[in-house]
Amino acid sequence: MTFHTLNELIAEGVRGRYILVRSDLNVPLDGSTVTDDGRIKASLPVLGKLTDAGARVLVTAHLGRPKGAPEEKYSLKPAVTRLAELAGFKVSLAGDTVGPSAKDHSAALQDGEVLVLENVRFDARETSKNDAERGAFADELVALTGENGAYVDDAFGAVHRKHASVYDVATRLPSYQGDLVHTEVEVLRKLTADTQRPYVVVLGGSKVSDKLAVIDNLIGKADAILVGGGMLFTFLAAEGHKVAGSLLEEDQIPVVQDYLKRAADAGTEFIVPTDVVVAGKFAADADHETVPAEGIEGSSFGAQGIGLDIGPDSAAAFAERIKSAKTVFWNGPMGVFEFEAFSGGTRAIAQALTEADALTVVGGGDSAAAVRTLGFADDQFGHISTGGGASLEYLEGKELPGLSVLDR
Ligand code: 3PG
Repeated sequence: MTFHTLNELIAEGVRGRYILVRSDLNVPLDGSTVTDDGRIKASLPVLGKLTDAGARVLVTAHLGRPKGAPEEKYSLKPAVTRLAELAGFKVSLAGDTVGPSAKDHSAALQDGEVLVLENVRFDARETSKNDAERGAFADELVALTGENGAYVDDAFGAVHRKHASVYDVATRLPSYQGDLVHTEVEVLRKLTADTQRPYVVVLGGSKVSDKLAVIDNLIGKADAILVGGGMLFTFLAAEGHKVAGSLLEEDQIPVVQDYLKRAADAGTEFIVPTDVVVAGKFAADADHETVPAEGIEGSSFGAQGIGLDIGPDSAAAFAERIKSAKTVFWNGPMGVFEFEAFSGGTRAIAQALTEADALTVVGGGDSAAAVRTLGFADDQFGHISTGGGASLEYLEGKELPGLSVLDR
């Protein structure tokens, strides 16, 4: 695929022009406080380049999954407040997405200023499956850019969504790839073509069902897949072990058994933990103990025991595999890292990535928040992707609508 770049747009001249930019400002919040501003920081360079060049920038973005109508808890206010604190240019937020406030504010926008439109998902047409509905919303977004507008997609985290602000606007305006999307795609490409070996993939997170497609596509490509997080219990069950009260997706057991068999034939090793930290309940202060992975029911919590982290032996074994790799992709925490007692596995994996002499990529969402929450710095990793679902879908080999629509 080839794309028109942001630099090309800037070379054409943007002073005084309205440039519609899709950013990913979908950040985690605690009330009105942004708890991980990684995506906001990642969005700044493109906005900075455009404002420096004198553009009038209209930003579209989503936050959470509102049901197609305004809801205060999904307002972009906290994200925009943080953006304004970090930015070296003037930033304001419209009170709606394409309504009177958006129109008034955009009409008053000066060269070098940014106006963020309220959450695009406050309008049900943004995510509609109906092309005409999405198209009508895209028309209203595009109308805000006037005569000589252009569109820049810089929201890598949303390129897997065929939504009006990602896809349909790009069919209506001259469209360019933002630098963040460009960088993300360049890095992820190295995980799918001419990959340096050994290639180790670390997968965690709660549900195996979210990871099936990526696992499927990695069999035969990765040298080893290390399995942690809630999904490890479905792997243990697939190997015939009892998992007591741990998270289990019983309906996925046959699928996982098939993967284990196919992987053995294809030269991909699945590495499943040999020990697990089991707790009596799901709580930060829960009593807990480390037991062998095949003996979860034998813990002092019996059938009530819940596995909340990989054990220290497994963490050490995973770390060894990571440190001997040349390429590492990691998506999903190893345990309930938000609770100190169950953060050891995730911390050990993050630490190993920082020590590996390899291209290390942390795949978005929870894993990015995890490394920052645990006190690691972004520059200790080769790349921290801003895309959770998007980076997984890229690795699944799926076509991403937000990328293909920019192909010229
Ligand atoms: C993400 O959080 O992965 C992106 O912002 C996309 O959000 P979505 O999964 O709600 O579409």
